[in-house]
Amino acid sequence: MRVRRRRRGEETERKREDMGIVDEVAALREQTLARIAQAADTAALEQVRIGVLGKAGTLTAHLRSMGQVAKEERAQVGKTVNEVRSAVEEALAARKAALDAAELAAAIDAAAVDVTLPGRAQQMGTRHLINAITDEISEIFLGLGYTVAHGPEVETDYYNFEALNAPADHPSRSLADTFYVVDRSGDAASVRGESDVLLRTQTSGVQVHAMEDRELPIYVIAPGKVYRRDVADPSHLPQFHQIEGLVVDEGITFGDLKGTLDYLCKQVFGEERKTRFRAHYFPFTEPSAEVDVSCGICHGEGCRMCKGTGWLEILGCGMVDPNVLSMSGIDPEKYSGFAFGMGVERIACLKYNVPDLRMLLEGDMRFLRQF
Ligand code: DAH
Repeated sequence: MRVRRRRRGEETERKREDMGIVDEVAALREQTLARIAQAADTAALEQVRIGVLGKAGTLTAHLRSMGQVAKEERAQVGKTVNEVRSAVEEALAARKAALDAAELAAAIDAAAVDVTLPGRAQQMGTRHLINAITDEISEIFLGLGYTVAHGPEVETDYYNFEALNAPADHPSRSLADTFYVVDRSGDAASVRGESDVLLRTQTSGVQVHAMEDRELPIYVIAPGKVYRRDVADPSHLPQFHQIEGLVVDEGITFGDLKGTLDYLCKQVFGEERKTRFRAHYFPFTEPSAEVDVSCGICHGEGCRMCKGTGWLEILGCGMVDPNVLSMSGIDPEKYSGFAFGMGVERIACLKYNVPDLRMLLEGDMRFLRQF
C-alpha cells in the first residue's frame, strides 16, 4: 500500500509538474512575443530567436524534454508547446519582415541623392597659354613665309654645342647647366658626365639640323621644349619652351633681322610698342644682340615690371657666325643669315603681366581660363 500510495503520490507530483510546463510555456510565449515586439533591429530579433528556438533555446529545451512527460499529458503539453512554437515563429517572421523593410528604407534614404542640389559642372579644359603663344608666334612667321621645324629633345653634344661654335670651355656646357643622359651600360666617361648625349638646353641645335637637311634658302622657326639644371623660381624653370628662328639666304643683313623682330614684337605686344637692340654675346652669332621691348605698363617711364628701365628683355639674336655656316657645309662667302631665340613662358608672362613663371605650370583652371 505504502508503495502504491507512494507511486500515486509520485504520479500526482509528475502530473502537477507536466501541467506546470504548460503554464511555463504560456508565460514564455507572452514574454517572447513582447521581446519580439520590442526588438529594435534584425540583429536584436535574431538574438531573441536564438534564445528561444536556437539549439540551447528555452522553448527547444521544453521540446526536448517531451519524452519525460507522462503519456497522458504528453498530447496536451505537446500541443501547447507546438502552438507556442508556431506563434513565436509567426511573430518572428512578421517582425523580421517589418524590420527588413525599415532597414531597407533607411539604407535607401542614406544613399539617396538630393536631385535638387546644384550640380557640379564638368571643367572644360582650355588651350594652355604656352601653346597659345607658340601657335600665335608660329602663325606670325608662317605669314612671313617661314616653315615650322622640329628637332629632337635628346640631343648630342655636337648639335647642342659644338656645331654652334660653343667653345669647349663655354659656361653653358658645364655640368651644372646641362642634364646629361648617362649610358645604361654604366660607361665610366658617361657617369663622370662626359656623355655625348644630353637633353637640349636650347632649340638652337635645330638650326644645325635645318642647315644639314634643308635646301637653301632657309626660313624656319623651331618651337619646342628645352631643359636646364635650374631650380624653379619666379624667373627660372628646369623645363621650358623656346622658339628658335633661322634665316639663311643670299644678301641677308642685320637690317632684315631688325625689321623682322620689330614686326614680331608689334604683332605680339601691340603696334605702339618699341624695340631696342643691345649688343650681347652668343657663340653662334656675330654680331649678337639682345632685344628689349618697351614696357607695356609704364610705356618707358620706368616701373616695377621693367625694374625702372622702361624696357623688357625678350630674346637673343644675331647674324649667323660664318664658322657655323661652314661647319654645316654652307659657303659663308655666298650666304649670310640671322638667328634668334626666345623663351615662350617669358613672352607669355610679359604679355599678360604674370609675375611668376611657375604659375603657368600649376594647372589652376581659374588662372589658365583667363587667356
Ligand atoms: N639659344 C639662346 C639661349 O638659349 C638664345 C638665342 C640667342 C638663340 C641668340 C639664337 C640666337 O638663335 O641667335 O639663350
